Amino acid sequence: MRPQPMPVDAAPSAQRPVIHAAGVCLRFGEVDALVDAALDVAPSEVVSIVGPSGAGKSTFLRCLNLLAVPDRGRIDIGGTPMFDDGLRLGKGELRRVRRSLGMVFQKFHLFPHLTALENVTLAMLDAGIATREEAVRTACALLDRVGLRKRALQPAPALSGGEQQRVAIARALAMKPTALLFDEPTSALDPEASREVLCVMRELAQQGTTMVVVTHEMQFALQASDRIVFMEGGRTLETASPDEMFHRAQSPRARAFFSQALQHAGLA
Ligand SMILES: Nc1ncnc2c1ncn2[C@@H]1O[C@H](COP(=O)(O)OP(=O)(O)OP(=O)(O)O)[C@@H](O)[C@H]1O
Ligand SMILES: [Mg+2]
Repeated sequence: MRPQPMPVDAAPSAQRPVIHAAGVCLRFGEVDALVDAALDVAPSEVVSIVGPSGAGKSTFLRCLNLLAVPDRGRIDIGGTPMFDDGLRLGKGELRRVRRSLGMVFQKFHLFPHLTALENVTLAMLDAGIATREEAVRTACALLDRVGLRKRALQPAPALSGGEQQRVAIARALAMKPTALLFDEPTSALDPEASREVLCVMRELAQQGTTMVVVTHEMQFALQASDRIVFMEGGRTLETASPDEMFHRAQSPRARAFFSQALQHAGLA
């Protein structure tokens, strides 16, 4: 008999991980994109996922909220199974889980015909979690939080890349997510715009937001994360504190990657 979908409790307790993933495998044709990938994220923790191109970082992030469906493995959000071999959530539960993990992509995916404010309110109105008045109030507060109060009524395309990405962050926060997932949020931005976005992310981290960040920004990984996961060939090869990972990584591949990264970033 197929296991029944289980109700998802989006509110994590202090004891259990916000995200628990283990043995996650996904194959695209001949490519093993994920091989036994694993991740545990505690409440208020910031985890950076780092590794070479094609390592499976984006695929893993997408699996966490089932934008990509693993072939095998287990994923719990807030202590409740959302994917386990054979277990599939119903549509409503899946929507709820996806909402509990706010996603910020490299490309901002804002609606170009809407203002910054409307982009943020729309998410709440679509999800039916706020009246129009509440949605506007929340959106204004969030745009203020990401430094964009004065740009709220601008159409999205009139905003700079950094501003658009900050709107995307405000939009993700509007859903009151349990955790934010970022996939290279600054790699489409120039250095100035990257700094603006990283600054907002550092503030969120300091305020206790649980975050998983796929990034090539070594300075952010080193300074703003609690832990770093190194991925290669679809595997989560090593997990360690930033200091350990950058200076005393166990595996030769991680050691080589991080010593090169330090040199590139001028941090060596
Ligand atoms: N939809 C797909 N169809 C086929 N292969 C895919 C698909 N998505 C990813 N892959 C393959 O899976 C592997 C992992 O890709 P992924 O995009 O997760 O890597 P990444 O670590 O995010 O790389 P990058 O740093 O370049 O963004 C790669 O070999 C990629 O070509
Ligand atoms: Mg990627």
